[in-house]
Amino acid sequence: MNRIIRNALAVAAVATCAGMSTVQAQSSAPLTATVNVRADQPGPRIHRNIYGQFAEHLGRGIYEGVWVGEDSPIPNTRGYRNDVLEALRKLKVPVVRWPGGCFADEYHWRDGIGPREQRPVKINTHWGGVEERNAFGTHEFLDFVELIGADAYVAGNVGTGSPQEMAEWVEYITADSNSELAQLRRKNGRDKPWRLPYFGVGNENWGCGGNMRPEYYADLYRRFATFIKAPHDNRPERVAGGANGDDYRWTEVLLSRAAPHMEAYSIHYYTLPGRWEDKGPSTGFEEDQWASTLSHALRMDELVTKHSAIMDEYDPEKRIGLYVDEWGTWYDPEPGHNPGFLYQQNTLRDALVAALTLDIFHRHAERVRMSNIAQMVNVLQAMILTDKEKMILTPTYHVFEMYVPFQDATALPAQVETPPYRYAGHELPAVDASAARDTEGRLHLALVNVDPHRRAAVTARIEGARVRAAEGRVLTAGAIDAHNTFERPDTVRPAPFKATRRGDALVFDLPPKSVVVVALRE
Ligand code: AHR
Repeated sequence: MNRIIRNALAVAAVATCAGMSTVQAQSSAPLTATVNVRADQPGPRIHRNIYGQFAEHLGRGIYEGVWVGEDSPIPNTRGYRNDVLEALRKLKVPVVRWPGGCFADEYHWRDGIGPREQRPVKINTHWGGVEERNAFGTHEFLDFVELIGADAYVAGNVGTGSPQEMAEWVEYITADSNSELAQLRRKNGRDKPWRLPYFGVGNENWGCGGNMRPEYYADLYRRFATFIKAPHDNRPERVAGGANGDDYRWTEVLLSRAAPHMEAYSIHYYTLPGRWEDKGPSTGFEEDQWASTLSHALRMDELVTKHSAIMDEYDPEKRIGLYVDEWGTWYDPEPGHNPGFLYQQNTLRDALVAALTLDIFHRHAERVRMSNIAQMVNVLQAMILTDKEKMILTPTYHVFEMYVPFQDATALPAQVETPPYRYAGHELPAVDASAARDTEGRLHLALVNVDPHRRAAVTARIEGARVRAAEGRVLTAGAIDAHNTFERPDTVRPAPFKATRRGDALVFDLPPKSVVVVALRE
């Protein structure tokens, strides 16, 4: 049968190898795979920002999810709910993108400063048509990222804003002078400027951000980006609004016309089990949707490869970062919830999507230097779900937490030889792997078994290191749609895991449908 050879720092190749029949492949006998890690061939740094989050004014993402206000009975610190703060700190969230999303191109920052009771009430026209009271604005966002130790990535308004409004927002945040805007910030309670490392020039300019053609946006981008000025030690990277999925023409036009004016270029890609008109449910799905979702998630590799190739033409030194600043699963609206709020459950399937996608970003770490999963709390593929005073951690949260050692680690090549997992016309490598050496010199290995029925016996060799043991955690559950609820918050949670040593190799017994992350002891 076919075996797939995947090189962790290069494009996958397919080879044929005899020895297993189709009958064996369908049995519950463990599948066998090998992983060859080159600890002696360090690759690029896996930028911690690959583990970034996205928080939009959408549904209960900000209001209730993060911000409950100082007078709330829900325990809070200056209005931010304590349980969420604590959970996010454990994730070591490196960066948060805000305020949108589609919301960004209708957001006027002056609505969100000054005494809260005097802020204007607007309508959130994109998301549910609900009232936006502007209680969470510039101060609340920038104080929040400081509280969780993350960097700020602010998305500006091109669609309905002006270069002047954008320039003044950046000045309000960063000015250390006695300018009128710096004084206004001080009057509103913040003396010193905040750090502003990243600033996005609009969002989805091809769609909700203005339905623009790339030629038009490229010109607008150059104009708006010109006026983003800040003190030299606090100058944000300017992020150009990029392509929707496989719109390579958009990338070609933007890079050919505006590359010298950008420090980063973004793309968006969402994983759906089905089509936009009929996405599929977040729970209660069958194996066909398990297979379609995971194989659609793997498309990220092709997208990143092809957009990077275009970027290489205009930026061979790789000065410009590719930021996948929206990604994740998107299912049909959860019954009983406002469909405009994009609230969805999060299952073991989402955990595997997260692990496979993070592994792809590791493989492209040279160019992909930020990603922002959509979204942090209560929206789409969330880390955290809340229901009034209750909070649960999702399977996706657990993957992000297990992968923390990869933040800022050095990627190592990991070649995987694995049989495919096939179902309902979908075929993908059954086993995936990613390896890295962290900033303190320790080796880490992540393994994924996408097969929902068969254990995987994985033999791993680590060239260039004498590894004595491997210990860490495994995330799995009984059902493909296993998930945590407010009544049963620990249905899916990590458990201890150990590999065994056989000669100079490590042998991993991966449960079906699982993610394993281990530290390798030398
Ligand atoms: O994440 C939800 C929405 O998806 C964002 O607002 C938009 O940018 C994208 O289409």
